[in-house]
Amino acid sequence: MSAPPGLHVVVLAAGHGKRMRSRRPKVLQPVGGRAMLAHVLDTAAVLDPERVHVVIGHGAEDVRAAFPDRNVAWVEQPERLGTGHAVAQALPDIPDDRPVLVLYGDVPLVSADTLESVAQTAATGLSLLSAEVVDPGGYGRILRDADAGVTGIVEEADADREQRAIREINSGIMAAPSGRLKAWLVRVDNDNRQGEHYLTDCVALAVADGVPVQACLARDADEILGANDRWQLACLEHAFRRRAVRRLCAAGATVVDPERVDIRGAVSVGADVVIDAGAVLEGDNTLGDDVYIGPYCVLRDCALGAGTRLEPHSVLEGVRTAEHCRIGPFARLRPGTVLDGEARVGNFVETKAAHIGAGSKVNHLSYVGDAELGRGVNIGAGTITCNYDGANKHRTVIGDEAFIGSDTQLVAPVEVGRGATIGAGSTITRDAPADTLTVSRAKQTSIPGWQRPRKKRSD
Ligand code: UD1
Ligand code: CA
Repeated sequence: MSAPPGLHVVVLAAGHGKRMRSRRPKVLQPVGGRAMLAHVLDTAAVLDPERVHVVIGHGAEDVRAAFPDRNVAWVEQPERLGTGHAVAQALPDIPDDRPVLVLYGDVPLVSADTLESVAQTAATGLSLLSAEVVDPGGYGRILRDADAGVTGIVEEADADREQRAIREINSGIMAAPSGRLKAWLVRVDNDNRQGEHYLTDCVALAVADGVPVQACLARDADEILGANDRWQLACLEHAFRRRAVRRLCAAGATVVDPERVDIRGAVSVGADVVIDAGAVLEGDNTLGDDVYIGPYCVLRDCALGAGTRLEPHSVLEGVRTAEHCRIGPFARLRPGTVLDGEARVGNFVETKAAHIGAGSKVNHLSYVGDAELGRGVNIGAGTITCNYDGANKHRTVIGDEAFIGSDTQLVAPVEVGRGATIGAGSTITRDAPADTLTVSRAKQTSIPGWQRPRKKRSD
């Protein structure tokens, strides 16, 4: 990335966002599972600027608290007097000869490449990022003269009918030398329909001063989508999802229906991954070659080894699997679950902090928590590790090739030796030795001639 040297980035994030009708500051509204401002700050960082200044105001403490580790200069805008006024708050800290790039905290999808081309000319002139859109409603419109030179920007509230028909809109993103911006912004008044000091008025002032003005047209109109209300936020989410799906497809994954998958975070995929309809992927997920994610699965922060299959309606969080594991349908794997190669976790099974060894099977209706299972273990249906005594958690350890009969309770702490067999219906409270059958249930008896109770006759 080659942004101009000495670049300063100013991110506007002070607005209230009233139209969101939310208690949360607008720039903290999530897109793709992360605050819009987080996306903007990440993209800004790619440009390797000298300094990033974030102008905050409404909910300033919340915004700042959401980014405790960011190396940015927080600048308070005491009153919301407009985008021009907001930028002016940061300028005193920026030397006159530095190029300044203005970003909006509510325009999160812009790419670093695009920003680089906007910032490129900011050492000398003013450049802005525009886009051709089908529905320009709510945006400032770009005004051009007969030679297609930019002459100014008119806000929708101030535009006449003819201007409202213009489909080239202002993204809000703009770059110019710090000294120039300072000079223009003292001249910008608030004589407009919103009574605000508009940053956009700098464009006409630049033209009047004979400073070169350049409008870079965004290649992809999604990049400049901003969110003022919940509908636009939903449109942003849609755009984010489409891009994420495109990246997955480009990386060699099959996404069965791009409109019915949700990607809220980063996903990396191997070859020939298939993601079926209704899947939701949150946080950071890594899917190895040939992984199959069945319909309506939810994954958060998982790493699945090559050839692993998730059958429908499985919910996984903080799970790691080796190769060729089978999970679900209807399985719930909670944080700390680790599956070695070819392990299987079937329907209506819950696991937590469980290490399940290679080739081991927990196929039906079980709870396996705080457990260490060796290789080739078979856990029968309805088995429960009783890991919690009401105060503390305890571990269950099961050796290689052990066979746990159905409907067994393993009262932890307890250990089942390698090759041990536990008879069905047992409650195991003491360690079960290796290569031995352990049963703990009452012997079966039959009572011949026993009569069932009968209803009494009322007459
Ligand atoms: C702005 C642009 C408009 C553009 C649109 C793109 C102006 C005057 N208008 O309009 O041309 O098409 O963005 O999305 O610039 N903010 C502050 N302090 C303020 C006011 C705003 O920090 O006093 C911040 C907001 O938090 C927001 C950004 O500036 O992140 C834009 O403000 P907003 O009120 O959303 O401007 P728009 O009306 O969308
Ligand atoms: Ca806006």
